[in-house]
Amino acid sequence: MTRLELGDIQGNVLRSYGMRRAAYVSVRVLGPRAGRALLGRLRHRIYSDERWDGTPARAVNVAISARGLTALGLPADIVGSFPPEFRDGMAARRRQLGDRGPNGPAHWEPGLRGGIDLLVGIHAFDDQERDAGVRELRDDIAGTRGRLQIVHVQRAAQQARMREGFGFRDGFGQPAVAGVPVKSLAGQGARTRTRRWRPLEAGEFVLGYRDDDGVLPDAPVPPFDRNGTFMVYRKLEQDVAAFDRLLVELAGEHFDGDTELAAAKLVGRWRNGAPLVTHPAPPSGDIERGDYNDFLYRDDADGYRCPLGAHIRRANPRDALPGGIRRSRRHRIIRRGMPYDEGPNGQGLVFVCFNASIARQFEVVNGWLREGDVFGLAGETDALTGWTRGRGRMTVQGSLPVLIETRPVVRTRGGEYLFVPSLSAIDALIDGTI
Ligand code: HEM
Repeated sequence: MTRLELGDIQGNVLRSYGMRRAAYVSVRVLGPRAGRALLGRLRHRIYSDERWDGTPARAVNVAISARGLTALGLPADIVGSFPPEFRDGMAARRRQLGDRGPNGPAHWEPGLRGGIDLLVGIHAFDDQERDAGVRELRDDIAGTRGRLQIVHVQRAAQQARMREGFGFRDGFGQPAVAGVPVKSLAGQGARTRTRRWRPLEAGEFVLGYRDDDGVLPDAPVPPFDRNGTFMVYRKLEQDVAAFDRLLVELAGEHFDGDTELAAAKLVGRWRNGAPLVTHPAPPSGDIERGDYNDFLYRDDADGYRCPLGAHIRRANPRDALPGGIRRSRRHRIIRRGMPYDEGPNGQGLVFVCFNASIARQFEVVNGWLREGDVFGLAGETDALTGWTRGRGRMTVQGSLPVLIETRPVVRTRGGEYLFVPSLSAIDALIDGTI
């Protein structure tokens, strides 16, 4: 049985806070002492993954980029012990990520264009508490005479019934993790030979524990080698009007005017979250919680129910790839994103995920979304997140397969690769013992 040091792992990583408001504040660090002093001031507000009773009304978390580690005064040999994709940062990985054309770093939002040093996450149950948290942070930074600067503030809010911008229920396709005292649901981990589901090993998501291949994941030098994790932070704008137009167009051309069927074929789930594999027709109401993830693709190998290129089938192919679950279980991510809505300035998803290896997990999943080769869908891309110059293509399998034309509906507005240190590593940064 895995014994996790939950009190040393930052909160919201292995267990969601369940708070429906968030702000992500990007901070530039121009003086190492000022940066470490800020960590010291924030320390008592940083929560761990240990059980808590719903108080306080808000919680703070801290993540640091490679540039941020250097800005905090860590020497090159320590920063150099972190993996290359993290050291490169998100903007430099634009080719791997498919951030081309209007998605490229040159077009990112001004505050996100120059990279992030420290990302302070503030979670709360309501707007007032969240905004009070942002004000408190501004006060903390005001006295540093420019040595710390807030370069971007991103607010986000969970919508009623957990709907993302395109109207789908989101967030329940999560891995179950061994040793986390949360009741896991069937289908969230890996399927065993006895056709049961077991949680994935914690080392897939937190450093210092055995991963699903039974080995300790590669890790930087102490104290960053234990109870820390890597975070991907990405602001993805959604063009909801274009998505709605696309559905009307697809429904008219291919689905007898049924926009809901068109939407479900793109995602692999009905808007209420019911999977197409188990629910080829839309269920009249919500399905049981335990039924959201309890399925494999072997019962739909040809993609007649859930297209081979649907978003969730690409993002977590389960048993659909050669190698089956033994392969896909090494490429899972914990998603903790939230929608944002900035009115005329656009709406979308603040995508946040945690994993032990950004290259093996997030970047592979992102690649599966972007490219179709591994699924035998060369030239096709995910209808939600894929970007094409002009129109894209997606095959919807069936006794009469149809080739549909998609168009880009999601645009990258910026982001960063970050490290979420353990609380003891944050203490070492504050004390100056590292
Ligand atoms: C604005 C962009 C995006 C939208 C609107 C979106 C939407 C959705 C929706 C509606 C679901 C189904 C609900 C669920 O299973 O929880 C889902 C699942 C998922 N998405 Fe996305 N997504 C976006 C971007 C991404 C990105 C960038 C990644 C990773 C690189 C990703 C990875 C996943 C994963 C892993 C699942 C769970 C699949 C499963 O376990 O069956 N998504 N997404």
